Amino acid sequence: MPVVAVQGRDHTWALHTPRTTYVLSVEQGEEARVVQWYWGPRLPDEAAAEVTRARPWRMETVFSADGDLAEALPVDGGRRWGVPSLQAVYEGGVRSVELAFASAQVRGGELDIALHDPGYGLRVTLHLRVHDDTDVIERRTTVTATKGPVELRRLDSASWLVPEQAGHAYSAVAGGWGRETQPQRGVLPVGETTFTSRTGATSHSANPWIMIGEAAERHGRLWSVALAWSGSWRLTAQRRPEGDLAVTTGFGHEGLSWRLEPGESLETPLSLGLMSDGGYGGASHAWHDYALRHVLPYPEEVRPVLYNSWEATWFDVTEEGQLDLARRAAELGVELFVVDDGWFGARTGDTRGLGDWWPNPERFPHGMGRLFDTVRELGMKAGLWVEPEMVNPDSDLYREHPDWVLHYPGRRRDTARNQLVLNFARDDVREWALGWLDGLVGDHGLEYLKWDMNRSFSQAGWAERGDWLWIGHTRGVYAVMDELRRRHPALRIESCSGGGGRVDFGVLRRTDQVWTSDNTDARDRQRIQDGFSQLYPARVMSCWVTDSPNPITGRRVPLGYRFHVAMAGVLGVGGDLREWTPQELAEAGEHIAAYKRIRRTVQHGRLDRLGGRPGLEASAVQYTLDDQVVVLAYNPFTEDRQGPWRLRLAGLDPEARYAAEDGTVWHGRTLTDHGMAVPVWAERGADYRSALIVLTRVR
Ligand code: DGJ
Repeated sequence: MPVVAVQGRDHTWALHTPRTTYVLSVEQGEEARVVQWYWGPRLPDEAAAEVTRARPWRMETVFSADGDLAEALPVDGGRRWGVPSLQAVYEGGVRSVELAFASAQVRGGELDIALHDPGYGLRVTLHLRVHDDTDVIERRTTVTATKGPVELRRLDSASWLVPEQAGHAYSAVAGGWGRETQPQRGVLPVGETTFTSRTGATSHSANPWIMIGEAAERHGRLWSVALAWSGSWRLTAQRRPEGDLAVTTGFGHEGLSWRLEPGESLETPLSLGLMSDGGYGGASHAWHDYALRHVLPYPEEVRPVLYNSWEATWFDVTEEGQLDLARRAAELGVELFVVDDGWFGARTGDTRGLGDWWPNPERFPHGMGRLFDTVRELGMKAGLWVEPEMVNPDSDLYREHPDWVLHYPGRRRDTARNQLVLNFARDDVREWALGWLDGLVGDHGLEYLKWDMNRSFSQAGWAERGDWLWIGHTRGVYAVMDELRRRHPALRIESCSGGGGRVDFGVLRRTDQVWTSDNTDARDRQRIQDGFSQLYPARVMSCWVTDSPNPITGRRVPLGYRFHVAMAGVLGVGGDLREWTPQELAEAGEHIAAYKRIRRTVQHGRLDRLGGRPGLEASAVQYTLDDQVVVLAYNPFTEDRQGPWRLRLAGLDPEARYAAEDGTVWHGRTLTDHGMAVPVWAERGADYRSALIVLTRVR
């Protein structure tokens, strides 16, 4: 049974995942509190009762809160002085929430605990869910105003008590445009550490997850918390002087408020909790499995090799130019051809045309049909770039609907990249977007959209419903994507926001891959991809091989290294093929063919980071699926004498033998316990040495 009522104790439950148990109860005194008792390795039911026998000793003073960090959703009310997960203001400015137990319901792997504030009329339901094939626990919260109006100043999905044994070391990612998902590790200070986005999207600067625990890559127990949401968000880790640690997370950032009229409800996105063993690598395995089993719409698919025209043509898009690139791409073995920005309206640069979603008549005199017909004749699928949430003020759309953008009366409308944000919380905006997207996809039978979002919110006003837009916009984007997919089952979507600004488990429910970063410099990418891989699987990580010197960084990197870095995810090509030499084109074709032989393993296999700081020293990443083992090994520097010189592989069958492509056969134990040498690393004379090593288990 995944959810078990703990015997001998009222309103106490143990939620079991395959390897973990989570115990919580409703404690009733002057008010009801949902208290977390245990989150750790799986317990027998008998032991689940024992963990609730005694509360940990704390010196109680009049100045300290009484166990508020153990609460599953601490409210702003009573003797609590921590970060509230739920903050409500009732009529007359009354702020102290006082909850009583209402009911609890267990259905299979789901537990709902309903509480209510009888005085002022607020119903709060905590939803918890476990599955039998993942240790990820899903939690969310719903609140309903049952009497008068209620203003919500905060509504988190969940607060998670991290057990004392975890310690205070944390792992997260931080960054910016062109340097997303940079790994960041340290020790949480006593106090409140907040990771957040106020941009209206997930953001480049932080990503909504944290891992806590004393761990190395292959050893150690970790507690992770993530949020499945693509708008503004907040995740706060509170460490108290006495050692307690809790993480609360939810949508929205500080200062927003959402008014509920009587009868209205608000439901949060999912917060996900995972306890895992096996270090950072083990946590990644569990998160990747969760993404493939419970998040992605078509997890079983193998993603095609795509070509994207952005770095080849920038805004200089023409039918002839695209046809030329398409023919060259097809010869390399590319399977999906994507036309990027610059094909529509008056969009010949970033100053105008955004919002006018019809083919530019001068650039595409035959519409898009001729290009896409040829793309298909060349054996490729067809894809197109769109940015539905944005508008240039210099566009027909804005001239017709200036009220559709986020704005406040009497305030400036600041542009960024010369564009404003359309309010997707509005019904008319969503109807408009769905209308033209549906037509575009339907008319051309498009198999792929790259859905971009190139600026953050500012002056984010909405006369009708104010701060609801912060939730409504993201939900509106989700709704349009969902409906579009429903109407066009063959359509696949790539989430992009100026690179990796919208990567999270919320958007991944309705997209198939994500654009990892606008920075396609292979060496910089290694670090970005390393951070990306902590939570998200290679199956969704779009990687392009582009030109050298790289247009953004100016760095020169050999073609082989660029391919090997891009082969670590969903391979694409984004260079100007018109400028590649015949030798380069031939080499590219060979790499693409090689990728097709390993991509199922890369995209669906178990990913192990084998050591070394990617991009900064020799490093390698391994993928294992069924009988195939793929290792991508890199050394960016000639004179690096740091090692690792022997790669100790991970997760192999210790009794099996593995054949390398050179005909040598190795015992699984040799490969995991002694390691394999990577000759190309040791060669002197050139920077950027890399290798693709494929081993096959022999029976
Ligand atoms: C930002 C994206 O990340 C790029 O790949 C490209 O699509 C541009 N936008 C186009 O404007």
